[in-house]
Amino acid sequence: MSEEKNIRILAIESSCDETAASVVENGRIVLSNVISSQIDIHTLYGGVVPEIASRKHTERINRVVGQALTDAGLTLEEVDAVAVTYGPGLVGALLVGVSAAKAIAWAANKPLIAVHHIEGHICANYIDHPELEPPFHCLVVSGGHTHLVRVEDYGVYRVLGKTRDDAAGEAFDKVARAIGLGYPGGPKIDLVSGEGDPEAIAFPRAKVGDSVYDFSFSGLKSAVLNYLNSKQMAGEEVNTADVAASFQKAVVDVLVGHSMDAMKEYGGEILALAGGVASNTHLRSAMEEACLERGIRFYRPEPVYCTDNAAMIGAAAYYEYIKGNFAGWDLNAVPSLRLGE
Ligand code: KG4
Ligand code: ZN
Repeated sequence: MSEEKNIRILAIESSCDETAASVVENGRIVLSNVISSQIDIHTLYGGVVPEIASRKHTERINRVVGQALTDAGLTLEEVDAVAVTYGPGLVGALLVGVSAAKAIAWAANKPLIAVHHIEGHICANYIDHPELEPPFHCLVVSGGHTHLVRVEDYGVYRVLGKTRDDAAGEAFDKVARAIGLGYPGGPKIDLVSGEGDPEAIAFPRAKVGDSVYDFSFSGLKSAVLNYLNSKQMAGEEVNTADVAASFQKAVVDVLVGHSMDAMKEYGGEILALAGGVASNTHLRSAMEEACLERGIRFYRPEPVYCTDNAAMIGAAAYYEYIKGNFAGWDLNAVPSLRLGE
């Protein structure tokens, strides 16, 4: 492989409720990014219905992949590899992407690359940031995961802490449902909280005793539900914006606090955010401010690369391509795949 050759990877993501495909050049430059969201369908049920997600992925995947190639101005023959998310996620949803990627790579005689979904979220930070290189720390906050990770090298991760119960995004979604904002809750709480007082209600900031970097959000969620119940019992009106703002402040305080403690202990100089919750405007500004105060370089992906997308999978896949780390035709979906183990 000549050093000057540009490596273009066609990437596919289908682990939850977005059918996505993208072409990424050299792990950093996005040539196309197609996302077909199913949110409108799952909203009717108040959350993601796995069976429906799989069916919709099957219906949409070929069109989405075709569009990604068209938008990039490339034919399948012109890409260097095909990458796909193989876990973690919903098994039926993952299988659609894995099967499609295998079939496309086999038919076009291209190498196949298997990507960990969380690794993809982390690598979203490489997009448009050519100067960002490991080592750095990354807080991954999504609907299914809350991980504080030390990125030691490309593809080498050490998990410093993770959630013991609900993921941060899951807590956002559950609280939003309880205060009648609907699904998906994160963006709605983000918006509504702008009109509320974050100091109005004193919700708890959970500590997990024996592991300083682990998180727990189920106690906070219960505290919000108890607050709503007690208000209802007393026949008092609830100020939705105040509840949203106070809940969000409690989450953000813990996320920023844990991250800053880790940066101090490990002498970290660079912190990145990743995952759907990383698009939260209050988290972005609180983390940026905390980093600025401590002279820490701060990165966060553009909002479109925070929530599920295939460009982040293409970014992660590039570093596997460089290492010659290709998957076999027996690649399967691994719904509970773990990071850094
Ligand atoms: O990364 P993602 O798209 O999917 C998973 O891998 O889980 O994350 C989705 C999660 C949802 O829980 C959603 O409510 C949350 O990210 N989210 C937000 C915001 N936008 C999306 N949470 C807080 N504020 C936001 N602006
Ligand atoms: Zn995700």
